[in-house]
Amino acid sequence: MSSLPGKTVLITGANAGIGKEAARQLALRPEIVRIYLACRNRGRGTTAKAELEAATGRRIFDVVVIDVADLRSVRAGLAAIGGSVDALVMNAGVIGPQSMELTADGVTKVFATNVLGHAVLLEGLLAEGRLGEVAVLAGSEAARGVPKLRMKRPSLCLNLSR
Ligand SMILES: NC(=O)c1ccc[n+]([C@@H]2O[C@H](COP(=O)([O-])OP(=O)(O)OC[C@H]3O[C@@H](n4cnc5c(N)ncnc54)[C@H](OP(=O)(O)O)[C@@H]3O)[C@@H](O)[C@H]2O)c1
Repeated sequence: MSSLPGKTVLITGANAGIGKEAARQLALRPEIVRIYLACRNRGRGTTAKAELEAATGRRIFDVVVIDVADLRSVRAGLAAIGGSVDALVMNAGVIGPQSMELTADGVTKVFATNVLGHAVLLEGLLAEGRLGEVAVLAGSEAARGVPKLRMKRPSLCLNLSR
């Protein structure tokens, strides 16, 4: 668990859309004391951090550069965070024609971003005992499973009491 007297959250793709709005809403809860904004571009992350501070009146946001489509970046981000988080929001996602291009890891960008990078991020936190309470996946198709792609519905049920 986090050593801070409150809850810490890590959100991927936190500089825009649902991720940024999740950061804003979570910051309105007094028990949340640290929110890591995991963004692939530091400039966009810094801009979002300033906007979130202005919108919430809280200075609890830290930008962590993580490109979830790049496993080296995911591992570097894990190292940069250092400590534990209580919640992980796996939100970053892409869709569109470019998303079928292959990444350096040999998978499509859409799979790398929406699935693989998050699986490695989650596994890294769990393996090091750094996830305190919960992981949430923001997605519709991946969360339901995609039979045409032989993608099973992922099981994100964790027993953290062990
Ligand atoms: N909105 C919907 O109706 C809807 C419906 C179903 C599922 N979803 C899922 O919900 C999630 C968020 O959707 P949204 O509508 O908020 O999307 P969005 O407005 O396009 O925002 C996506 C966020 O993900 C970030 N991102 C993309 N690729 C990334 C990468 N490789 N590494 C790190 N961050 C990356 C983007 O950063 P940049 O600014 O750097 O591009 C941006 O901050 C996605 O996973 C999406 O598939 C959304």
